[in-house]
Amino acid sequence: MIDRREFMQHTGAAALTALATPAWGAERLPTRLIPGTDESLPIIGLGNSRAFAAADLSVASSVLDTFLQYGGGYVDISGSSRFTVGKIVADRRAQHNTFLGNYLNGQNLDEMRAEIRKLQLVQGDGALDLSMKRDVADLGARAAEFRVLKEEGLLRYVGIGRPHQRFYPAMMKLMEDGVVDFIQVNYSMLEPEAAEQILPLAVEKNIAVVINRPFLNGDYFGIVKGQELPDWAAEFNCESWAQFSLKYILSNPAVNCVLTETSNPKHLIDNLGAGFGVMPDAATRQKMYAHIRTLLR
Ligand SMILES: NC(=O)c1ccc[n+]([C@@H]2O[C@H](COP(=O)([O-])OP(=O)(O)OC[C@H]3O[C@@H](n4cnc5c(N)ncnc54)[C@H](OP(=O)(O)O)[C@@H]3O)[C@@H](O)[C@H]2O)c1
Repeated sequence: MIDRREFMQHTGAAALTALATPAWGAERLPTRLIPGTDESLPIIGLGNSRAFAAADLSVASSVLDTFLQYGGGYVDISGSSRFTVGKIVADRRAQHNTFLGNYLNGQNLDEMRAEIRKLQLVQGDGALDLSMKRDVADLGARAAEFRVLKEEGLLRYVGIGRPHQRFYPAMMKLMEDGVVDFIQVNYSMLEPEAAEQILPLAVEKNIAVVINRPFLNGDYFGIVKGQELPDWAAEFNCESWAQFSLKYILSNPAVNCVLTETSNPKHLIDNLGAGFGVMPDAATRQKMYAHIRTLLR
């Protein structure tokens, strides 16, 4: 693993100096253990942004450099983003500082092997960190193929990710059957249902939990627009509405990491800030949950 100074030499990240240094400037993101392992994941991750998908190297590099500078790790990448992000990470020799959640498309074992080899040409030779799937039924039917990829050293972890509660029952079946090491689900003050069953099951089964839709794909900012943060948000080091949502999510102990999608490095700095300082306690979480409902029109 390269250290921070070496990393900064490789990034040549001029864009970073243009950003205001946040209060937590020199710190790196806290991490949480992947259950059942001695491997840790930084608690704020990066979603699959428009900049990655469009292969906008300037914006994608700026976002990734900022993310890595502050100790970010998990990046969720599907389609062409796998190559955009993989190349930027490889150029910076930061493979060992990142954890890439790749979505595989191959329809059988041979296609997936070939796909992984193609990704390795860009991302580096090692096993893929994580293969995410969106198709719950397909993953259930092909669980044995993913076990083979692991045995062959091509893949370390398998995950299922969906952004709606209607998928939870089928996802829970995969969790009960021991098919997945990771789940990725929507969870926030305005989409709290995952806390009822699927997150407790993940804790019981030692499955890592990654959260998507922390900002309802941006709709959250429409709800809080023009509203003042309550004074008491300062008690848990919360300085923005983005942090208000992220700190609520991260203070659920089942959560390993929350994915934040942005193509704006300033927004990323804001989001990373949620990983630092005090997290809300149970009583404060209730107050946050009630408060956000007063803003719904
Ligand atoms: N597996 C699946 O089926 C699945 C489904 C949904 C999502 N996901 C994953 O989860 C990730 C996140 O979920 P999501 O797509 O619903 O996005 P999200 O993170 O809930 O919201 C993204 C939106 O919020 C804006 N934003 C981000 N940070 C901000 C800030 N600090 N201040 C103001 N605006 C901010 C972004 O705009 P800017 O770019 O302008 O910052 C963007 O419009 C996705 O990228 C994807 O990787 C997976």
